[in-house]
Amino acid sequence: MTDNKAVISLKDVSIFQQDNLILSDVQFEIKESEFVYLIGSTGSGKSSLLKVLYGELPIHMGTASIAGIDLLKLKKSGIPKLRRQLGVVFQDFQLLFDRDVHDNLLFVLKATGWKNKAEIEARIEEVLDLVGIKTKSHKMPFELSGGEQQRVAIARALLNKPAIILADEPTGNLDPKTSDDILTLLHQICKQSNTAVLMATHDYRILDKFPAEIMRCEAGKLRTDKLLKEAN
Ligand SMILES: Nc1ncnc2c1ncn2[C@@H]1O[C@H](COP(=O)(O)OP(=O)(O)OP(=O)(O)O)[C@@H](O)[C@H]1O
Ligand SMILES: [Mg+2]
Repeated sequence: MTDNKAVISLKDVSIFQQDNLILSDVQFEIKESEFVYLIGSTGSGKSSLLKVLYGELPIHMGTASIAGIDLLKLKKSGIPKLRRQLGVVFQDFQLLFDRDVHDNLLFVLKATGWKNKAEIEARIEEVLDLVGIKTKSHKMPFELSGGEQQRVAIARALLNKPAIILADEPTGNLDPKTSDDILTLLHQICKQSNTAVLMATHDYRILDKFPAEIMRCEAGKLRTDKLLKEAN
């Protein structure tokens, strides 16, 4: 078996929010098609770590790359390119509420340089099919349930075939059954399209039901599953 490529690799990274050190000596690797949970109590630094990875929070020490992009050399002008390599999913879906599902997806494709109309329409249909809401293309976001809105957000994240999906508590606003459906979908995407997934969550029920690697933010450090096992 050949080794999968690392899609995220961080070493000796310190993460600050303004002048406050949130996580120090952060070190981990995520490979193609790996599914990893990021857990830790509120304020422990999960969202801060994800923000570093999608270029919202700059870092100034260590080495860090995601999808082949060096995060220490990342400039504001390089952020759109970085975002094209990633799919980001949030707790509150963050859809555009003034347009239908199709046009939410169209907006992203146009913003990321897609020009060919037939290719655009084919890709929109493809991602809606992948997340199981092909028939909702012309619904407005407010006409959809929370779970359906999250499926649109996941479809949007998949548009540019990202190497990795970063999800910050994607089930935080959903009931247990709908959360399970979204987790099933994320695990399916991970397996079928080799997309790595890094998902922050508070929900220990999910960790039991859909087991995968775990990283924990705790006392200013990031601890991996392996280290946790060794400590026990
Ligand atoms: N924009 C900001 N400016 C200053 N400090 C911030 C900012 N965002 C977060 N922080 C601080 O950074 C620390 C880590 O916050 P972060 O949002 O990463 O935690 P979290 O683990 O995602 O928590 P939660 O589970 O509540 O989402 C907290 O002490 C928080 O107050
Ligand atoms: Mg958070």
